[in-house]
Amino acid sequence: MYQILSYIKFILSSTNQHGVHSPFVYNFVTKCLYNRTKYDAYKALYTYRKKLKKSKTKIEVIDLGEGSKLLKTNQRRVSKMIRNSSSSFKNAKLLFKTTKYFNFKTILELGTSLGMGTYAMAIADTSSKIISIEGCPNTLGFTNSYLRQYNLKHLSFINGDFQSTIQKLNEDKFDCVFIDGHHNKKSTINYFESLLSKTHNNTVFVFDDIYWSKGMTEAWAYIKAHPSVSVTVDTFHLGYVFFRKEQAKEHFKIRV
Ligand SMILES: C[S@@+](CC[C@H](N)C(=O)[O-])C[C@H]1O[C@@H](n2cnc3c(N)ncnc32)[C@H](O)[C@@H]1O
Repeated sequence: MYQILSYIKFILSSTNQHGVHSPFVYNFVTKCLYNRTKYDAYKALYTYRKKLKKSKTKIEVIDLGEGSKLLKTNQRRVSKMIRNSSSSFKNAKLLFKTTKYFNFKTILELGTSLGMGTYAMAIADTSSKIISIEGCPNTLGFTNSYLRQYNLKHLSFINGDFQSTIQKLNEDKFDCVFIDGHHNKKSTINYFESLLSKTHNNTVFVFDDIYWSKGMTEAWAYIKAHPSVSVTVDTFHLGYVFFRKEQAKEHFKIRV
């Protein structure tokens, strides 16, 4: 119910590129979010999901996040996980377009799950370096072997909980951080703050499920108001955060 009401409010308050005066944001909206090119990669994303929807495999899931609200038992079917807790086809396309548009070379993902988002970002640029963290060893084991068929050498996975793994990362800076796991207010704010030291002026943070719950929307409001953040773009499912010092602080809600 919270998500439905939030969506109605979003529809009433969101816009398109009209009225966006910042050239940086205008270009992002028109050339990235509204890019209607039918990339061949979309077929690959579609097939990736489709194969998993047909999978008969069950995984003994150890969920460190909020996902257990959706499915009670620990034995989960891959075919359900791809529907319930993975990036949708639409979000996967957005992640692909975003990676391509900004030409991200170093990406950190919090929450691998079945690798839908990882795969979308990975095929956008095979010269990038992607690190994805996942708490559940069994899910990660499955995803790792599933992804092996695609021979993507620029991916690396870390099995561990987000907070302690972030502390141990060797990388100084990331061009993009995709935060897609442990959807509650306190944890989301913690991960955001822990990763601030790994940003540069053009780093982009992408938050999934900012309207998943009241707490997530409060976390999103906190992030928007944070002094290090200049621009945010809310597309309902994904929230983009920019740190560019040359931008005036401004928040956009864009219907995609
Ligand atoms: C929503 S799924 C990720 C979906 C994936 N990014 C995609 O694009 O399809 C969230 C994942 O984060 C993992 N997770 C949640 N909280 C975690 C934590 N505190 N530490 C490590 N992994 C966590 C869960 O096990 C789950 O697989």
